[in-house]
Amino acid sequence: MVVVADEAAVAEAAGERFAAAVVKAVDRRGVARVVLTGGDTPRRAYAGLAREPFRSRVPWERVHLFWGDERCVPPTHPRSNFGMARRSLLAHIDIPPENLHRMHGEWEPGRAAEAYTEEIRRSFGGEPPRWDLVHLGLGGDAHIASLFPFSDVLRERRRWVSTSLLEERGEWRVTLTVPALRAAEHIHFVVAGAGKASAVHSVLQGALDPHRFPGQSIRDAPTRTAWIVDRAAAGKLEHRPDHP
Ligand code: 6PG
Repeated sequence: MVVVADEAAVAEAAGERFAAAVVKAVDRRGVARVVLTGGDTPRRAYAGLAREPFRSRVPWERVHLFWGDERCVPPTHPRSNFGMARRSLLAHIDIPPENLHRMHGEWEPGRAAEAYTEEIRRSFGGEPPRWDLVHLGLGGDAHIASLFPFSDVLRERRRWVSTSLLEERGEWRVTLTVPALRAAEHIHFVVAGAGKASAVHSVLQGALDPHRFPGQSIRDAPTRTAWIVDRAAAGKLEHRPDHP
């Protein structure tokens, strides 16, 4: 676990880790397949990646970007996760358009989920996905991607992509499922702010109950999981877990 002073330092450390994981994957396989997410903390990390030294350090032409979840709105909508990535990162780097694999938030959610399953299948030559890096935020209620507490989607073990309803907003989402998110070489959590301290504690040190705390679905993943958090978000941990 990396604990840094504040949100700006989280973005910096997340950029370092992102660049290292991508460079390693490209060195090994010639390509890096990375899953992005939505939210404010990830947005700051993407803005950091759009600046030097990361902008030049990351071989963007070899990076394929996917999304862990999308709000069901058009890409031009202020709530679109793709739109957020476009404004904070994509507009500032040289990445070929064919490397961008967005979820179609403007489509009917079921259709968008099916189309994304096909997109993943095509990208992995018909094999199940195996991401080089999954970049995740954490909600104050311990959700990840659009896997919300007590949602039936958390039980999904077969499909890679599903629809999900954020009930308090009546907003449909498209989201990767637990097995799809876990299928990764590296998973990075980027979390900042005192409002996340309970969620960080529950996910890492709370009694196991992934339906209540969806972030726990990753806890035992056979994956290198890195937590990059600020002091405020780490404030309720009883001891610092020994994660890289
Ligand atoms: C989304 C997300 C979501 C997000 C967390 C953290 O589209 O809302 O993918 O899982 O990453 O809620 O977001 P914040 O950093 O804004 O709290």
